[in-house]
Amino acid sequence: MKQNIKEQIISQAETDVKIALEKESTGHDWGHIQRVTRLARTIALQEGADLYICQLAALLHDLADAKLNPSEEYGLRKVSAWLEEHDVEPEDAGHVMEIISTMSFKGGNSSPMKTLEGQVVQDADRLDAIGAIGIARVFTYSGAKGRAMHDPEVKPRETMTESEYRNGQDTAINHFYEKLLKLKDLMNTSYGKALAEQRHQFMLEYLEQFYAEWDGEK
Ligand code: ADP
Ligand code: NI
Repeated sequence: MKQNIKEQIISQAETDVKIALEKESTGHDWGHIQRVTRLARTIALQEGADLYICQLAALLHDLADAKLNPSEEYGLRKVSAWLEEHDVEPEDAGHVMEIISTMSFKGGNSSPMKTLEGQVVQDADRLDAIGAIGIARVFTYSGAKGRAMHDPEVKPRETMTESEYRNGQDTAINHFYEKLLKLKDLMNTSYGKALAEQRHQFMLEYLEQFYAEWDGEK
């Protein structure tokens, strides 16, 4: 496929996704998509992955999210229809669909990404959940759910019962231990790992300062 056709498809995806996510408030807003797409590009260049596939998958990756659709299957059909309508080559469309469907499954026990491009996009998405941006997203999300930022009495998520968890005893700080601090060990690419390592250190320093301020020590 000609280069300028690929550029047109990317730019059409940008326009459509921006509109689709305009009113999005679950942490998958257009800013998230832009950051993930830029980061996927940066990692793809380092790892020698296909830029077109990485960018297209990054742009479309959250359109299928269950939070935005009646079901995940419905969301995936939407993405697939978009690719067909925009004359994306069947092989490329299949690759993008494979990436998005594998990536979007929640729960941490999802199957590993099969292709380098999938690994790149998943790394970029995970990196946006850690570091300075990741910290901002946790507090935004928790605030939107009406949760406290911190409660020293709160039990770690692992030891909470399901009903304690559902009753909103989860806090923003708790989510660092539930998820954010685990992400660096889940990176696929070596460049992704290096970036995650820096962002992880930043979060550890942040937590140390947070607890010191909480206790009135600093
Ligand atoms: P993803 O789409 O990357 O899998 P999620 O939909 O789980 O991420 O979350 C989107 C953003 O909201 C992330 O930055 C994540 O850290 C944050 N978030 C998700 N669940 C919680 C929670 N229980 N408490 C605080 N922040 C959360
Ligand atoms: Ni995402």
